[in-house]
Amino acid sequence: MMLEKILELGKNIAKENDYNKLFGIFLKGTTDIANCDAGTLYIYKERVEDGELKKYLCFASTINHTLKQYGGLEGEKLNLPPVIFSDTNASSYAGIHRVILNVDDVYKDDHSIWMGPRKYDSITGYHTQSVLVIPLIDKKDDLIGVLQLINCMDKDNNVIPFSKEIEKIIFSLSSQVAMILSNMLLTNDMEELLDSAINSLVNAIEAKTPFNALHTNTVTGLCDLFVDYLNKNSSEYKFSSDEKDVLHMAAQLHDVGKIGINDDILNKPTRLATRIDYIRSRFENLRLQLLVNKYEKNDPSMDNLVTELNSDLEFIENVNNAPFIDDAKMERINELCNKKVLGVKLLTDEEIEDLHIVKGTLTSKEREHIQEHVVKTVNILKDVKFGKKYHDSLIIAGQHHELLDGSGYPKRLKGDELNTQTRILTIMDIFDSLTASDRPYKATIPVEKAYGILCAMVNEGKLDPKLVGYLRGFIDELLAKYGNLDGKIAKTVLQIKKEEKELKEKEKF
Ligand SMILES: [Fe+2]
Ligand SMILES: [Fe+2]
Repeated sequence: MMLEKILELGKNIAKENDYNKLFGIFLKGTTDIANCDAGTLYIYKERVEDGELKKYLCFASTINHTLKQYGGLEGEKLNLPPVIFSDTNASSYAGIHRVILNVDDVYKDDHSIWMGPRKYDSITGYHTQSVLVIPLIDKKDDLIGVLQLINCMDKDNNVIPFSKEIEKIIFSLSSQVAMILSNMLLTNDMEELLDSAINSLVNAIEAKTPFNALHTNTVTGLCDLFVDYLNKNSSEYKFSSDEKDVLHMAAQLHDVGKIGINDDILNKPTRLATRIDYIRSRFENLRLQLLVNKYEKNDPSMDNLVTELNSDLEFIENVNNAPFIDDAKMERINELCNKKVLGVKLLTDEEIEDLHIVKGTLTSKEREHIQEHVVKTVNILKDVKFGKKYHDSLIIAGQHHELLDGSGYPKRLKGDELNTQTRILTIMDIFDSLTASDRPYKATIPVEKAYGILCAMVNEGKLDPKLVGYLRGFIDELLAKYGNLDGKIAKTVLQIKKEEKELKEKEKF
């Protein structure tokens, strides 16, 4: 019977991937094997406070059958103040000195470390008698935590001492779980290191694009929050924490290739960008020359040419910043192409090309150059060893401009070739680009209009209809909580993610 329980616990411990759930499984299993009434599992933690390293034992899970008190058994956090790591209490004592404590009756042992259980008894009315305290130590001799079992019972529920046999069995199981927890902590540390390294890289890249500096972090935050929303509100989409991490990493990486894109093109704020300054000085020179001619040659017709020149410059300035060029404007641009004043061509070939941009600020050549960022993302990162877990992140990142109807780039993939995570990343990338308020070359699009554009893209077969359908509920949830979000999507998402991170840091302890 006991062997079965030991084997069962060993199996359950080995297959659990959730660090917090492991605490409860281990405590439930060991209290059951030892047949005791109560127990607590503490996890050892260190943190720097005011420049000083402080050590604590934090409550991970607890059981007291008599008092019917249970906590931390399903992976939930226990909100109990940590125990100071010092010789004054039994659990810390066992951890500090790496010793097993096995006492038959805490009331018959004079050691001061047993004052704690006696005080606990006086407050709760419980009666602590036999106690087994075992430090959880990994193979590097690092303390991982401490297990404390209370009141071992015989088959008639009389409290008896913990036998040597039980002590050995629980010690062996504790060593096993210490090793697993240590590996999990190491994996967790590695993942945090990877995430922070990628985040630094992203921030460095986004510093290159001052008009678009929040894009990657906003898209990542939107993907994270949307996946949480789907897990909570849909029956058809269920993402495991690994799948969520893979999408998070893909979102972080998706625009890394922008590092290889020419800054002047990436940040081009208007059609002509800095070329407008050359045009202004060229026109100014011509105006001066016309004035000189007027007086030197006594030619009043020069005045008309100056007026015409002023009007042309005003028109060019207007076209430079216009969101869209209509046919009438295009006709006048075409007239300006070959226009000369005093034998000087008003516009160069590059300036003419810029003025012919119908919508946006980029020529087709410049747009193609920017589109190369997807291929560059894959090329820059292809040799990074992301490991098995994140293998798909780079694939998803490399597909974020593909569309379901095959009209995207760079590979013109379609339909089933694009998985759910890729489809989410594509939607969020577009949603942030539309709603962003930090881009001088485009007006901020209100949230409802942006959603309408996404719906239109669904109708064209470009985006996933179900996911965009769920996006409606996701947006409504945000609107209900934060009010009008026009121009504030990025700020709101980043604030939510910041608060989530702070909470996670707090919960760690
Ligand atoms: Fe992109
Ligand atoms: Fe993007």
